[in-house]
Amino acid sequence: MTEAFDLDWLDLREPFDALARDEALAARLLARLPARPRLLDLGSGTGALFRWLAPRIGRAQAWTLVDADREMAEAAFDTIADRAEDVGLRVTFPSRRTLLVHAPGGAWRVEALVADLAEAPDNLPLREADAVVNSALCDLVSRPWIERMAAALRVPFYAALCVDGRDRFSPPHPGDASVAQGFRRDQRRNKGFRGLALGAAAPAAVAEAFAAQGFAVETAASDWIVRGRGAPPGLPSDAAAPFLARLVSGRAAAALAAGPGRDAPRVSAWSGARQAQIAQGGLRARIGHRDVLAVPAAEG
Ligand SMILES: C[S@@+](CC[C@H](N)C(=O)[O-])C[C@H]1O[C@@H](n2cnc3c(N)ncnc32)[C@H](O)[C@@H]1O
Repeated sequence: MTEAFDLDWLDLREPFDALARDEALAARLLARLPARPRLLDLGSGTGALFRWLAPRIGRAQAWTLVDADREMAEAAFDTIADRAEDVGLRVTFPSRRTLLVHAPGGAWRVEALVADLAEAPDNLPLREADAVVNSALCDLVSRPWIERMAAALRVPFYAALCVDGRDRFSPPHPGDASVAQGFRRDQRRNKGFRGLALGAAAPAAVAEAFAAQGFAVETAASDWIVRGRGAPPGLPSDAAAPFLARLVSGRAAAALAAGPGRDAPRVSAWSGARQAQIAQGGLRARIGHRDVLAVPAAEG
């Protein structure tokens, strides 16, 4: 049973993800890629990582986007095509499963593979990949899953935006601890990868699994930093409020689902107070993530 993600949430978070990603770590991945790199993007959603990384690669490249959700894969093609055309790039569809973005440095080829990653790595075309990448996926997977992946790979593995539990909402609220506790419990629930999800243990677990296979591992902070008033450079001034509202409602729902019933009034009070602060532009949040890059020893 795979975890369902909604398109609106992925859309809301994309600009905040883009600001949070660590540029230097991504540059170290890019330095490892061959002339026309082939990337396998696991749990690709609507293709946000492709949209961020492909222009940085900046030359001919081929991506396979892997997701269990067919609707997500279709939305990825539509979103990639729309955003490319918005910036004046021509898009063609040589087949139903293939999209080409005609960029000045060479074509970006995108294919979709609808597959359940619980079966990975056995059901993945690893031999056709120069790097395996993912974003906001590794906190969903289990420890045995990441260990199997590390044992199977001979190419770089780049796991962006793994939550690490360093979450802070300001100003403080008396319900913060209850909500955080319930939310953390929900994050460890089995998310369809045959074992408890890594949750906030993801960055360390990914690093350990790949280091044990002789990979050189580097990590970098990639926190979301969101202020209710104003907006980070490059974002519309009204981007923060809907993002924070979904962050708060998602967190409260997870805490309610995972926490004991006696916590419910405290979680509801927290949620109501936080939504009121968002409406007044008074809530700030810092949500801890790390990007992890593992490079095979022979290349290190
Ligand atoms: C948090 S979203 C991240 C999406 C995208 N990488 C991004 O950064 O916007 C996680 C994605 O993993 C996919 N996913 C979750 N479990 C999966 C599984 N067992 N097999 C394949 N995809 C899965 C979901 O459908 C969703 O698109």
